[in-house]
Amino acid sequence: MNIKRQINLFLNQQKELFGNEIFTYSLNKSIIKKTSLYSESLAMEHLENYENSISLCQECSLGKTRNNFVFGSGDHNADLMLVGDVPGVNEDNQGVPFMGREGKLLDKILSAIGKNRRSDVYLANILKCYIPQNRNPLLSEISKCKSYLFKQIQFINPKVILALGRISGKVLLNMDLPLEKLRENVHDFKGIPVRVTYHPAALLRNPDFKKEAWKDFKWATTLLKN
Ligand code: URA
Repeated sequence: MNIKRQINLFLNQQKELFGNEIFTYSLNKSIIKKTSLYSESLAMEHLENYENSISLCQECSLGKTRNNFVFGSGDHNADLMLVGDVPGVNEDNQGVPFMGREGKLLDKILSAIGKNRRSDVYLANILKCYIPQNRNPLLSEISKCKSYLFKQIQFINPKVILALGRISGKVLLNMDLPLEKLRENVHDFKGIPVRVTYHPAALLRNPDFKKEAWKDFKWATTLLKN
């Protein structure tokens, strides 16, 4: 059993026995300390439970055509969360966000700011299911799926969110503006600063945008350092 599982098991047993408080004994000071049990490992456990509870979703017709529910991936306690729009065919096949060419570019950008998609950030999308023929998401699909993302953000509680592309910005911020306008300001999602930047697909189509996107990623890293 890996260490995280063991810790989770232990904390869950403690929770069953003593509720939301944990008592630890300090050997050198001979004191008993009371701490809240809502720890990071439990947040992870909860996120996994949450994923399990929604991963068979059939709230819209995409539930019938998907191969995999693309919940999200990365560090459950990440300070930086990246939100894309809709999983593509690669993501549908693997059940993980940003697996294709766009994901490779994203990995390069992350590496340039000293981050890794597994250990430093959390990746998710507005929709959890692939849309056949890559049509734009319907409002009804977005309105059913966005609550999953909002709950996910609550669990991860990142310090900064980068919304990748206009659709992501529009849904997170409830603002229907062109990307250039959305990029002009730092926004707020339930107290978390949000910046909208270019989607990696746009950067592949138009590499001239990379300079501007770089500024947004640098902004996020600077904010995290302060
Ligand atoms: N584009 C996205 O917005 N998300 C993915 O997961 C893949 C491509």
